[in-house]
Amino acid sequence: MMELSDTYQLSNGVRIPILGFGTWQTPDGEIAFESVKKALRVGYRHIDTAAAYGNEASVAKAIKASKIPRNKIFLTTKLNSDALDYDSAKQAIDRSLSKMNLDYIDLLLIHWPNPLATRPHFEERNAAVWQAMEAGVGEGKIKSLGVANFQSHHLDALYQSAKIKPVVNQIYCNPSDQQETIVAYNRAHDILTEAYSPLGTGEIFRIKALEDLARKYQHTVAQIVLRWHLQKGYLPLPKSVTPTRIEENIKLFDFSLQDDDMAFIDRLHGALLPHKFPDQVQF
Ligand SMILES: NC(=O)c1ccc[n+]([C@@H]2O[C@H](COP(=O)([O-])OP(=O)(O)OC[C@H]3O[C@@H](n4cnc5c(N)ncnc54)[C@H](OP(=O)(O)O)[C@@H]3O)[C@@H](O)[C@H]2O)c1
Repeated sequence: MMELSDTYQLSNGVRIPILGFGTWQTPDGEIAFESVKKALRVGYRHIDTAAAYGNEASVAKAIKASKIPRNKIFLTTKLNSDALDYDSAKQAIDRSLSKMNLDYIDLLLIHWPNPLATRPHFEERNAAVWQAMEAGVGEGKIKSLGVANFQSHHLDALYQSAKIKPVVNQIYCNPSDQQETIVAYNRAHDILTEAYSPLGTGEIFRIKALEDLARKYQHTVAQIVLRWHLQKGYLPLPKSVTPTRIEENIKLFDFSLQDDDMAFIDRLHGALLPHKFPDQVQF
């Protein structure tokens, strides 16, 4: 039986808590501070932020206010699309650390593979940014490196120059959009799949068939879907600013989905309209 305190072992040996707390669209200031503090109080030990979310400072303030030792919390942030070359990436790393007033980041991701400004030569941009991230590891500023929104051709290109291998690929993934191709690529390359928007940014609640499963297991639709992610071997990153939901979304460890119900959810692929990715992802 899984537990909230369980971890996945990344390919570099580092352990990462199997459930993370998302913070996209969580406004900086009191809302980010209070929601992250609440998340840590109820038991999350893994927080996902990004330079682009504009809330790194409040997230880190909540981590400090929790009084939980820093090494018991796993913190991810991401380099925004203004990190376009070696120097701007190095500056962006230092900017995140300084905003958060932290000594190190547990996991740093390239947020988007394909910013418009460097699109014709995305390979060189990602290689240069990665080199700066590797330097950050050498300087003790970052523990692990990964990517987000990368498809196989982006990763194939990165492998040409990377000295440190990416340990995580954070992708849009939920029952309606299962991204089987990139999930299989991640698995084949020993990259952990982190499921962002695990509840489809709230859209998943429009799939009525999930309500029958919720009734059967006497859990909520959110819990059924998050449990499905865990049983698939993914690392879901549910976001909420609502205290009751923050708590609800970690109560996933007193039940498990039977194989036929896992298969039923697998068949929900395509139940919603396809996700519209921002322009910074070009597949
Ligand atoms: N790498 C990337 O490019 C990328 C992109 C998108 C997201 N992410 C990461 O993944 C995280 C999660 O994705 P997401 O923010 O798109 O959305 P999500 O976690 O799929 O869904 C969040 C939405 O569902 C609502 N919600 C949460 N728990 C609920 C529950 N138990 N019952 C009913 N409604 C519930 C939230 O409302 P309230 O907040 O109002 O409670 C919010 O509107 C992000 O926060 C971010 O950390 C990464």
